[in-house]
Amino acid sequence: CIISVTLTFLFSAHCFSEGFLAISPKPMADFHVQPESVHAEESGVARFQCQIHGLPEPVISWEKDSRPVDTSNERYTLLPTGVLQITGVREEDSGRFCCVAHNSAGVKHSAEALLTSSVYKEPVIVVGPENLTLTVHQTAILECVATGYPRPIVSWSRLDGRPIGVEGIQVLGTGNLMISDVGVEHSGVYVCAANKPGTRVRRTAQGRLVVQAPAEFVQPPQSIARPVGTTAIFTCQARGEPEPQLTWLKNGQILEPGGHVKLRNNNSTLTIYGISQNDEAIYQCIAENSAGSTQASARLTVLWADGLPGVPIHVEAEALSPTTIQVSWREPDKNTQDIIGYVLHIRRTSGGMEYEEAVSKVTLQQIIRDLEPSTNYTFYVKAYTSHGASKPSDSVTESTHGEVPAPPSLYTKVVNGSVVQATWESSSKMGQPQGFRLYYRRAHTPLFTGPIAFPRNVTQYNITHLGET
Ligand SMILES: *[C@@H]1O[C@H](CO)[C@@H](O)[C@H](O)[C@H]1NC(C)=O
Ligand SMILES: *[C@@H]1O[C@H](CO)[C@@H](O)[C@H](O)[C@H]1NC(C)=O
Ligand SMILES: *[C@@H]1O[C@H](CO)[C@@H](O)[C@H](O)[C@H]1NC(C)=O
Ligand SMILES: *[C@@H]1O[C@H](CO)[C@@H](O)[C@H](O)[C@H]1NC(C)=O
Ligand SMILES: *[C@@H]1O[C@H](CO)[C@@H](O)[C@H](O)[C@H]1NC(C)=O
Ligand SMILES: *[C@@H]1O[C@H](CO)[C@@H](O)[C@H](O)[C@H]1NC(C)=O
Ligand SMILES: *[C@@H]1O[C@H](CO)[C@@H](O)[C@H](O)[C@H]1NC(C)=O
Repeated sequence: CIISVTLTFLFSAHCFSEGFLAISPKPMADFHVQPESVHAEESGVARFQCQIHGLPEPVISWEKDSRPVDTSNERYTLLPTGVLQITGVREEDSGRFCCVAHNSAGVKHSAEALLTSSVYKEPVIVVGPENLTLTVHQTAILECVATGYPRPIVSWSRLDGRPIGVEGIQVLGTGNLMISDVGVEHSGVYVCAANKPGTRVRRTAQGRLVVQAPAEFVQPPQSIARPVGTTAIFTCQARGEPEPQLTWLKNGQILEPGGHVKLRNNNSTLTIYGISQNDEAIYQCIAENSAGSTQASARLTVLWADGLPGVPIHVEAEALSPTTIQVSWREPDKNTQDIIGYVLHIRRTSGGMEYEEAVSKVTLQQIIRDLEPSTNYTFYVKAYTSHGASKPSDSVTESTHGEVPAPPSLYTKVVNGSVVQATWESSSKMGQPQGFRLYYRRAHTPLFTGPIAFPRNVTQYNITHLGET
């Protein structure tokens, strides 16, 4: 506004009874109420006001963009108080408004005030939240950008009605939701709402946040030792999001349930009934979901009664000579790993002292020496651990070979023309012979006559009928 030059001039007053009175008008003071800028929605109302003191009372008019407002426009109402009302505001009403006061003392322009108006626009969500799948401790950013006039207010809620909370929650920009260090409890459908201010007009968009947690053990399986024939139970419990799958390995191989091995409760319980040596192993539980996997292992130790070794099997004895017998056997079929050696028990079958020979755990056979020929011996074997001996194995009996006697000494004596007396003597070495056999032939003929058998107490024989043919 351009401040006009104030003129001083004469003012005629008719209300006085006598003659003419000349009054000198005073210049107006400043506006004590200045018009203020307003923002009006389309079809809304705008109102400007200004106040100024003056003598004579100033007359108020309004200018828009330095031109007098058109008061013939029925949407513009100028009240005698100087208030300007504009109804049914349109975009074209926007501009700079200025109040003009004038009286005989002059003209004064107020400060300018802006009328802005805009068209109402429904709230619209331009970008809504995406579906997100995250792992715990990551950061979730849920986008929401809304336009509209007036500018919509963006707010967030959970579809299930649970509160979003405040910890770790931040709003980025005008409406994006950031959740730091997400946990599985943050999983859910998030609703972004764009509200027209002061109304219930709203648009919404939603996105699902899935927070996964890698599998972790609540209860890993524990190593156990159980006596043979009893039941062994391993428990494995894991949590995670999604629910972890459990599988088992036995000594690194996938465990195939069946028979006396059962998996229950979604594989969280492994039960082995009537355990035997074959069940002694490392059992691993593997918990796995889409966010990760973990494993834990436990050992099953199968205990034998009293922790003693099993009985050696397949005991066999074989005579090698009149004085030696070889005894062999195999490892027990259970609880062999703690065996430190074997003891071989030897006695004559017919009775007498038993004696023992210790044998290393690797040999599994022993040659017994210094036995008597043609004698039955009985053998059995025990396995030993540091805890003690197994039960005795089955016994076996074997006879040493018979001894070959030294040749007897033979003497002959002619009795008469048809009889020769043969006399012999057994050697004193190498045991007693069981008997004798006599063969004879005529010199220079190929065939022997005989044998003629004699018990061991007979040492003489008369060969008769010689020379008869
Ligand atoms: C999000 O997932 C839901 C189903 O859970 C689906 O209906 C929707 O279309 C998905 N939104 C986006 C942006 O992919
Ligand atoms: C096995 O898993 C399913 C799905 O994960 C669940 O519904 C069910 O209750 C579970 N059963 C047991 C015995 O834990
Ligand atoms: C249980 O484990 C077996 C293999 O050990 C697997 O084949 C099966 O799918 C598992 N069952 C469940 C419910 O995880
Ligand atoms: C050895 O035992 C066998 C069978 O028991 C028997 O026939 C044999 O006469 C015995 N031998 C000796 C020398 O005792
Ligand atoms: C030889 O002696 C036996 C008895 O010792 C006798 O019987 C036999 O007749 C005798 N023979 C001759 C030819 O003398
Ligand atoms: C030899 O012993 C048997 C019985 O063992 C006996 O009958 C026989 O008379 C004995 N012979 C001699 C010559 O001693
Ligand atoms: C063999 O002949 C002699 C002489 O005639 C005699 O003394 C002896 O008893 C005879 N022996 C036997 C076993 O007949």
